[in-house]
Amino acid sequence: MRIILLGAPGSGKGTVAEALRSLYGYPKISTGDLLREAVREGTPLGRVAASQMGKGGLVDDATVLALLRERLARADCAAGYVLDGFPRNASQADSLDALGLAGPEIVFDLEVGGDVVIERLANRRSCPRCEAIYHLVTKPPKVAGVCDVCGAELVQRKDDTPEVIRERLKTHKAKTEPLAARYEAKGELHRIDAARPAEDVIGQVLRVLETVLGRPAGAGE
Ligand code: AP5
Repeated sequence: MRIILLGAPGSGKGTVAEALRSLYGYPKISTGDLLREAVREGTPLGRVAASQMGKGGLVDDATVLALLRERLARADCAAGYVLDGFPRNASQADSLDALGLAGPEIVFDLEVGGDVVIERLANRRSCPRCEAIYHLVTKPPKVAGVCDVCGAELVQRKDDTPEVIRERLKTHKAKTEPLAARYEAKGELHRIDAARPAEDVIGQVLRVLETVLGRPAGAGE
């Protein structure tokens, strides 16, 4: 099974992917996390990504695909996985189709307005080591500034500034939003009201999974 999370920056893709991972063990494959990790480690792909990230546009398809292929080849993805932030354009969607898949593909479009996005990203803090996600108001860490999971110092992402957020939203509208129609035509798209509180958003996703799979999400895997 492959679950694809579409949605604007700050719509909650990472939050939903993390919930599916911790509830059911589906690996969370975030191309943003893979890119940031490659940049931190200074790998050849990371050096290419570093020159393109942080301005609000997309990293080139070849770089992203190389990182994604490597990650999907690991054993934990054999039974299925959750894609957070991929595909981001038509050519990436074509590449994903070409990778093939055993089992269903289920696509969620996390719908949320621009005002909500700006508030969420301004209050987001992330762990640079394990990529855990916090919100200063709705999901604060137990100890201010410290990751609950691994103890690292939390940071504000460099691309969470008002100018870069505006660019990211423009990129999303132009390149990623049109993918919803593609998956709708395949009968795979499920629209989620992502402006609701996180527990409610996750509940909507779980209800769809249960309906599509004909059993509680995660059972029998
Ligand atoms: P990426 O890391 O994927 O960023 P993004 O798509 O802009 O999405 P975000 O991570 O900002 O938000 P999210 O939807 O995951 O929300 P989150 O759960 O954190 O990509 C970064 C960059 O990498 C791109 O700009 C691009 O350059 C490059 N890139 C990545 N993938 C690429 C690709 N495939 N191709 C080319 N380039 C690529 O939530 C946000 C905040 O809100 C958090 O604080 C959270 O706690 C809070 N929150 C979440 N849900 C709720 C809720 N329901 N109610 C209240 N608060 C909530």
